[in-house]
Amino acid sequence: MTDRKKDHIDLAFSSRTEPADADRRFHYEPMLAAHHNGHFDEFEFAGKTLKLPIWVSSMTGGTQRAGTINRNLATSCGEFGMGMGLGSCRALLDSDEYFSDFDVRKYMGNTAPLYANLGIAQIEKLVAAGEEEKAETLVYKLKATGLIIHVNPLQEAFQPEGDSLLVPPVETIEAFLSKTNLRVIVKEVGQGMGPASLERLLALSLEAIEFGALGGTNFTRLELNRVSKGPSSQFDAYGRIGHTAAEMTAFVNEIAAKHPTTCQQLIISGGITNVPDGWHLTQQSKLKSVFGMGSTFLKHAMDDYATLQSFVKQLEKALGIAQNFMRPIY
Ligand SMILES: Cc1cc2nc3c(=O)[nH]c(=O)nc-3n(C[C@H](O)[C@H](O)[C@H](O)COP(=O)(O)O)c2cc1C
Repeated sequence: MTDRKKDHIDLAFSSRTEPADADRRFHYEPMLAAHHNGHFDEFEFAGKTLKLPIWVSSMTGGTQRAGTINRNLATSCGEFGMGMGLGSCRALLDSDEYFSDFDVRKYMGNTAPLYANLGIAQIEKLVAAGEEEKAETLVYKLKATGLIIHVNPLQEAFQPEGDSLLVPPVETIEAFLSKTNLRVIVKEVGQGMGPASLERLLALSLEAIEFGALGGTNFTRLELNRVSKGPSSQFDAYGRIGHTAAEMTAFVNEIAAKHPTTCQQLIISGGITNVPDGWHLTQQSKLKSVFGMGSTFLKHAMDDYATLQSFVKQLEKALGIAQNFMRPIY
């Protein structure tokens, strides 16, 4: 007690908030609820069951470190009831060398959604060759709930070893959907997408759309940083092209207000690093939604499981506080 009072005096001057820092996205309502009891109701999402409205966004496998990261992430999804997208499983299409890095259903349990992941360029090739069943086999072997297709034409364009797309992505996705019963989620990888792309996707029988919005990890910028300066500098401005998660939420709401959408679920992700950012947007969304984080999970998933576990406990507590004391301003 004495220590606590001493801390208060020592820290008071360094713990001030400027009025300009106030978060104007919420009304703070301290009078209307008790503290959260830590129980979150289960709900259906992406073909399985979640407890927290949180998704672990796809992150690459294929290295030794990725095995540890994926196991940690999957274990936390099982323990806390979150969904997870695997990183690109392209390496598994032709070889089982890295299979164990991705084979995480056993750590996750069977309740929460787990999605395999392939890029649009691979799907384009599978569709052209009539080999859609290779994607189905992948999902089946991983005991995944379905498949995420990531669409990243800017990253591919700036990646020295990138693939060129021969067909507009939405046409490839339509063709793929016509040949498979897999649950399919479509995402960007850090630049989001504009209203015309979203409108086309929302009209498809997709399980969900994941934003992968601008504002966080940006693979166009990453690829531009990988290649030498000089000729590439003409492309630097492209790292700023795209749409934030807040913009995309507004686009989807406008589209859904015009006509009913076939795709009914969203994973709001890209640049979200804390619960208020993500929860605010899920509350604004007219479609059923959860929020996703990539690099923010990665930071805590690289070492022992206890580090990640205490981070997710924080998320859970932060969510309980938001739900009981903060009201989003629409
Ligand atoms: C290390 C790393 C690897 C990633 N690999 C993939 C991938 O293989 N497939 C994919 O769809 N997205 C991949 N992403 C993109 C993320 O899923 C996410 O869309 C992006 O990081 C934006 O979210 P963030 O701002 O929360 O990090 C990767 C992101 C990171 C940080």
